[in-house]
Amino acid sequence: MGSATVLSNDSIPNVLSDIVANESNHALWLNTLSLLEHLGSRKILLTQSSEETSEMILRHATEEARHALFFKKAARTIKPSFQWGYQNSALVRGTAARIYFAKLDTLVRRSLRKVFTDEKQFTYLAYLYTTTVIEKRAMVVYAAYDEILDKTGSPIRLTNLILEEEGHLSEMSSEMFRLDPGAKERLANLEAEEAKIFNRFWLQIREFSLN
Ligand SMILES: [Fe+2]
Ligand SMILES: [Fe+2]
Repeated sequence: MGSATVLSNDSIPNVLSDIVANESNHALWLNTLSLLEHLGSRKILLTQSSEETSEMILRHATEEARHALFFKKAARTIKPSFQWGYQNSALVRGTAARIYFAKLDTLVRRSLRKVFTDEKQFTYLAYLYTTTVIEKRAMVVYAAYDEILDKTGSPIRLTNLILEEEGHLSEMSSEMFRLDPGAKERLANLEAEEAKIFNRFWLQIREFSLN
């Protein structure tokens, strides 16, 4: 690695293993995933509610809301006394998680603003790109996490959740390629930018896991 502050995806399983090994930290981590799913669901409903709201939009918003509930309940499975909201004290680096989400949103909007002047199309594409980039990241993290859950014999598994995220990804990518002829390149650029934002977020998670 060229720089000490650049993490590769290889660090993800190690960090997650450390977190899972500690019951309290594991519950906080599950609640952090719950927050991110909840922010996703809320964002979809806030930005995609119009006369054109489709079945796909409703399904995504509903499934993200269900994922938020799933992770919240899972925190209680791991630690029965866990029953908090989304206070920073109930999260793994809650501020960093919120910043990751907000920065990604800003990044996508800034990039699309230059190209798509029609407001409706801009709003829809912003949803498609933001969620696609987040879901691609989620798949890396969830796959590594699910493997650890499996290995440690955890009562929690992400099998169904991962299947639903895969469904979202394929639906969104077909919409994206239908509406944006430059989708391939744009997505690749946004993913490269997201990697920097995620790296900053993950450094915080790693720091937490070492305590
Ligand atoms: Fe989700
Ligand atoms: Fe999703």
